[in-house]
Amino acid sequence: MRIAILTGAGISAESGLGTFRDQDGLWTKYDLNDVATPQGFARNPRLVHDFYNARRANCVQAAPNAAHQALADLASGPHDVTLITQNVDDLHERAGSPAVVHMHGELMRAVCASCDARWDAPLEMDPKDPCPACHVQTTRPDIVWFGEMPYMMDDIAQAVTAADLFVAIGTSAEVYPAAGLVELARGDTLEINLEPSARANAFENHRFGLATDIVPAWVAELR
Ligand code: APR
Repeated sequence: MRIAILTGAGISAESGLGTFRDQDGLWTKYDLNDVATPQGFARNPRLVHDFYNARRANCVQAAPNAAHQALADLASGPHDVTLITQNVDDLHERAGSPAVVHMHGELMRAVCASCDARWDAPLEMDPKDPCPACHVQTTRPDIVWFGEMPYMMDDIAQAVTAADLFVAIGTSAEVYPAAGLVELARGDTLEINLEPSARANAFENHRFGLATDIVPAWVAELR
Protein backbone atom coordinates (compact mmCIF):
# COMPACT_ATOMS: atom_id res chain seq x y z
CA MET A 1 0.00 0.00 0.00
CA ARG A 2 1.22 3.54 -0.81
CA ILE A 3 1.08 5.62 2.36
CA ALA A 4 1.78 9.38 2.48
CA ILE A 5 2.32 10.71 6.00
CA LEU A 6 2.44 14.36 7.07
CA THR A 7 3.79 15.04 10.56
CA GLY A 8 3.71 18.20 12.65
CA ALA A 9 5.10 19.43 15.96
CA GLY A 10 2.77 17.16 17.91
CA ILE A 11 4.82 14.08 17.00
CA SER A 12 7.89 15.64 18.65
CA ALA A 13 6.02 17.04 21.67
CA GLU A 14 6.70 13.95 23.82
CA SER A 15 10.38 14.23 22.96
CA GLY A 16 10.34 17.53 24.83
CA LEU A 17 10.39 19.81 21.77
CA GLY A 18 7.81 22.59 21.99
CA THR A 19 4.84 22.77 19.68
CA PHE A 20 3.77 26.13 18.30
CA ARG A 21 0.12 26.66 19.13
CA ASP A 22 -0.50 24.59 22.20
CA GLN A 23 -0.65 26.19 25.60
CA ASP A 24 2.91 27.61 26.27
CA GLY A 25 3.77 26.81 22.64
CA LEU A 26 6.60 28.67 20.90
CA TRP A 27 4.30 31.26 19.37
CA THR A 28 3.01 32.13 22.81
CA LYS A 29 6.58 33.10 23.81
CA TYR A 30 7.96 34.64 20.62
CA ASP A 31 6.39 36.86 17.98
CA LEU A 32 6.70 34.76 14.82
CA ASN A 33 7.08 38.01 12.84
CA ASP A 34 10.36 38.61 14.66
CA VAL A 35 11.88 35.13 14.38
CA ALA A 36 10.16 33.31 11.50
CA THR A 37 9.95 35.83 8.64
CA PRO A 38 12.57 37.21 6.20
CA GLN A 39 11.63 40.71 7.39
CA GLY A 40 12.32 39.75 11.01
CA PHE A 41 15.69 38.32 9.98
CA ALA A 42 16.59 41.48 8.07
CA ARG A 43 15.61 43.61 11.10
CA ASN A 44 17.49 41.58 13.71
CA PRO A 45 19.60 38.63 12.53
CA ARG A 46 21.10 38.22 16.00
CA LEU A 47 17.66 37.60 17.58
CA VAL A 48 16.78 35.10 14.85
CA HIS A 49 20.08 33.21 15.17
CA ASP A 50 19.67 33.14 18.97
CA PHE A 51 16.13 31.71 18.56
CA TYR A 52 17.29 28.92 16.26
CA ASN A 53 20.50 28.31 18.25
CA ALA A 54 18.29 27.63 21.30
CA ARG A 55 16.00 25.32 19.29
CA ARG A 56 19.05 23.52 17.82
CA ALA A 57 20.43 22.95 21.35
CA ASN A 58 17.02 21.58 22.47
CA CYS A 59 16.93 19.31 19.43
CA VAL A 60 20.38 17.86 20.14
CA GLN A 61 19.27 17.13 23.71
CA ALA A 62 16.01 15.49 22.59
CA ALA A 63 15.55 11.86 21.57
CA PRO A 64 13.14 10.31 19.06
CA ASN A 65 10.05 8.88 20.75
CA ALA A 66 7.95 5.74 20.12
CA ALA A 67 5.93 7.53 17.43
CA HIS A 68 9.05 8.46 15.42
CA GLN A 69 10.31 4.92 15.89
CA ALA A 70 7.04 3.37 14.72
CA LEU A 71 7.12 5.40 11.49
CA ALA A 72 10.72 4.31 10.89
CA ASP A 73 9.63 0.68 11.41
CA LEU A 74 6.73 1.20 9.00
CA ALA A 75 9.14 2.44 6.31
CA SER A 76 11.21 -0.73 6.66
CA GLY A 77 8.16 -2.94 6.07
CA PRO A 78 6.24 -3.92 2.90
CA HIS A 79 4.47 -0.57 2.35
CA ASP A 80 5.63 2.28 0.12
CA VAL A 81 5.88 5.12 2.65
CA THR A 82 6.48 8.81 1.87
CA LEU A 83 7.23 10.72 5.07
CA ILE A 84 6.61 14.46 4.78
CA THR A 85 7.22 16.64 7.82
CA GLN A 86 6.54 20.24 8.74
CA ASN A 87 9.05 19.77 11.54
CA VAL A 88 12.57 21.10 11.30
CA ASP A 89 13.97 18.75 13.93
CA ASP A 90 15.91 15.62 12.89
CA LEU A 91 14.09 13.14 15.14
CA HIS A 92 12.58 11.20 12.23
CA GLU A 93 16.05 10.67 10.78
CA ARG A 94 17.51 9.74 14.16
CA ALA A 95 14.70 7.17 14.59
CA GLY A 96 15.83 5.61 11.29
CA SER A 97 13.29 6.98 8.79
CA PRO A 98 14.91 7.16 5.33
CA ALA A 99 14.27 10.07 2.89
CA VAL A 100 12.36 12.48 5.14
CA VAL A 101 10.80 15.34 3.14
CA HIS A 102 11.33 18.50 5.21
CA MET A 103 8.87 20.90 3.60
CA HIS A 104 9.73 23.65 6.14
CA GLY A 105 13.50 23.08 6.07
CA GLU A 106 15.89 21.72 8.67
CA LEU A 107 17.27 23.14 11.91
CA MET A 108 20.55 21.28 11.35
CA ARG A 109 21.14 22.89 7.96
CA ALA A 110 22.24 26.39 6.97
CA VAL A 111 21.83 28.35 3.74
CA CYS A 112 23.47 31.48 2.36
CA ALA A 113 21.01 34.28 1.60
CA SER A 114 23.43 35.58 -1.07
CA CYS A 115 24.53 32.53 -3.06
CA ASP A 116 22.06 29.82 -1.88
CA ALA A 117 24.87 27.46 -0.82
CA ARG A 118 23.74 24.91 1.82
CA TRP A 119 25.75 23.11 4.50
CA ASP A 120 25.39 21.40 7.86
CA ALA A 121 24.70 24.14 10.40
CA PRO A 122 27.11 24.57 13.33
CA LEU A 123 25.35 24.29 16.71
CA GLU A 124 25.69 28.05 17.18
CA MET A 125 25.20 30.32 14.15
CA ASP A 126 26.19 33.99 14.24
CA PRO A 127 25.29 36.90 11.93
CA LYS A 128 29.03 37.46 11.38
CA ASP A 129 29.58 33.91 10.08
CA PRO A 130 30.88 34.12 6.50
CA CYS A 131 29.27 31.82 3.95
CA PRO A 132 31.72 28.93 3.30
CA ALA A 133 31.13 29.36 -0.44
CA CYS A 134 30.92 33.09 -1.19
CA HIS A 135 32.26 34.41 2.16
CA VAL A 136 29.51 37.03 2.42
CA GLN A 137 28.11 37.38 5.97
CA THR A 138 24.55 36.39 5.01
CA THR A 139 24.21 32.92 6.54
CA ARG A 140 20.78 31.88 7.87
CA PRO A 141 19.15 28.71 9.19
CA ASP A 142 17.80 26.61 6.29
CA ILE A 143 14.25 27.09 7.57
CA VAL A 144 11.26 28.07 5.41
CA TRP A 145 9.85 31.20 7.02
CA PHE A 146 6.32 32.59 6.74
CA GLY A 147 5.88 34.13 3.32
CA GLU A 148 8.43 31.78 1.75
CA MET A 149 7.63 28.79 -0.45
CA PRO A 150 7.89 25.40 1.28
CA TYR A 151 10.30 22.91 -0.29
CA MET A 152 9.48 19.97 -2.59
CA MET A 153 5.82 20.92 -3.05
CA ASP A 154 5.53 19.21 -6.47
CA ASP A 155 6.92 15.93 -5.13
CA ILE A 156 4.73 16.24 -2.03
CA ALA A 157 1.55 16.87 -4.06
CA GLN A 158 2.39 13.91 -6.30
CA ALA A 159 2.93 11.57 -3.33
CA VAL A 160 -0.28 12.62 -1.56
CA THR A 161 -2.35 12.34 -4.72
CA ALA A 162 -0.96 8.87 -5.54
CA ALA A 163 -1.31 7.53 -2.00
CA ASP A 164 -3.82 4.82 -1.08
CA LEU A 165 -3.78 6.34 2.41
CA PHE A 166 -2.93 9.88 3.59
CA VAL A 167 -2.24 10.27 7.31
CA ALA A 168 -1.68 13.53 9.21
CA ILE A 169 -0.03 13.16 12.61
CA GLY A 170 0.40 15.85 15.28
CA THR A 171 -0.52 18.96 13.32
CA SER A 172 -3.07 21.67 14.07
CA ALA A 173 -3.64 22.13 10.31
CA GLU A 174 -3.46 25.90 10.77
CA VAL A 175 -0.67 26.56 8.25
CA TYR A 176 -0.94 26.23 4.46
CA PRO A 177 0.00 24.68 2.08
CA ALA A 178 0.53 21.75 4.51
CA ALA A 179 -3.02 22.05 5.89
CA GLY A 180 -4.44 21.82 2.35
CA LEU A 181 -2.71 18.57 1.41
CA VAL A 182 -5.68 16.51 2.59
CA GLU A 183 -7.69 18.01 -0.33
CA LEU A 184 -5.30 16.29 -2.76
CA ALA A 185 -5.77 12.87 -1.19
CA ARG A 186 -7.68 10.44 -3.43
CA GLY A 187 -7.38 7.44 -1.12
CA ASP A 188 -8.38 6.98 2.49
CA THR A 189 -7.53 9.69 5.00
CA LEU A 190 -6.70 9.44 8.70
CA GLU A 191 -5.98 12.18 11.24
CA ILE A 192 -3.95 11.19 14.32
CA ASN A 193 -3.78 14.04 16.82
CA LEU A 194 -4.27 14.98 20.46
CA GLU A 195 -7.52 16.68 19.46
CA PRO A 196 -9.45 17.47 16.27
CA SER A 197 -7.37 19.80 14.07
CA ALA A 198 -8.71 22.77 12.10
CA ARG A 199 -9.15 20.39 9.13
CA ALA A 200 -10.52 17.38 11.03
CA ASN A 201 -13.72 17.45 8.93
CA ALA A 202 -11.68 16.80 5.77
CA PHE A 203 -10.49 13.44 7.12
CA GLU A 204 -12.65 10.30 6.97
CA ASN A 205 -11.01 8.65 9.95
CA HIS A 206 -9.61 10.01 13.22
CA ARG A 207 -7.67 8.64 16.15
CA PHE A 208 -7.25 11.07 19.02
CA GLY A 209 -4.69 10.72 21.81
CA LEU A 210 -0.95 10.89 22.46
CA ALA A 211 1.17 10.17 19.39
CA THR A 212 3.34 7.73 21.35
CA ASP A 213 0.24 5.65 22.13
CA ILE A 214 -1.72 5.97 18.89
CA VAL A 215 1.04 5.78 16.22
CA PRO A 216 2.71 2.53 17.36
CA ALA A 217 -0.72 0.86 17.68
CA TRP A 218 -1.75 2.07 14.20
CA VAL A 219 1.56 0.88 12.65
CA ALA A 220 1.20 -2.51 14.35
CA GLU A 221 -2.15 -2.98 12.57
CA LEU A 222 -0.47 -2.37 9.21
CA ARG A 223 2.47 -4.71 9.54
N1 APR B 1 0.43 13.71 20.49
C1 APR B 1 -0.33 14.02 19.42
N2 APR B 1 -0.65 15.28 19.06
C2 APR B 1 -0.16 16.27 19.83
C3 APR B 1 0.63 16.03 20.97
C4 APR B 1 0.93 14.68 21.29
N3 APR B 1 1.68 14.36 22.36
N4 APR B 1 0.95 17.24 21.54
C5 APR B 1 0.37 18.18 20.77
N5 APR B 1 -0.31 17.61 19.76
C6 APR B 1 -1.05 18.27 18.68
C7 APR B 1 -1.81 19.52 19.13
O1 APR B 1 -3.14 19.18 19.50
C8 APR B 1 -1.80 20.37 17.85
O2 APR B 1 -2.96 20.12 17.06
O3 APR B 1 -0.10 18.72 17.76
C9 APR B 1 -0.56 19.89 17.09
C10 APR B 1 0.56 20.91 17.07
O4 APR B 1 0.10 22.01 16.34
P1 APR B 1 1.09 23.24 16.09
O5 APR B 1 1.74 23.62 17.37
O6 APR B 1 0.31 24.27 15.32
O7 APR B 1 2.25 22.64 15.15
P2 APR B 1 2.18 22.37 13.59
O8 APR B 1 0.80 21.98 13.16
O9 APR B 1 3.28 21.44 13.26
O10 APR B 1 2.54 23.83 12.98
C11 APR B 1 2.66 23.89 11.57
O11 APR B 1 3.40 26.20 11.78
O12 APR B 1 4.64 27.77 12.84
C12 APR B 1 4.60 26.96 11.74
O13 APR B 1 6.46 26.19 10.58
C13 APR B 1 5.74 26.00 11.75
O14 APR B 1 5.79 23.74 10.92
C14 APR B 1 5.08 24.64 11.77
C15 APR B 1 3.71 24.92 11.23
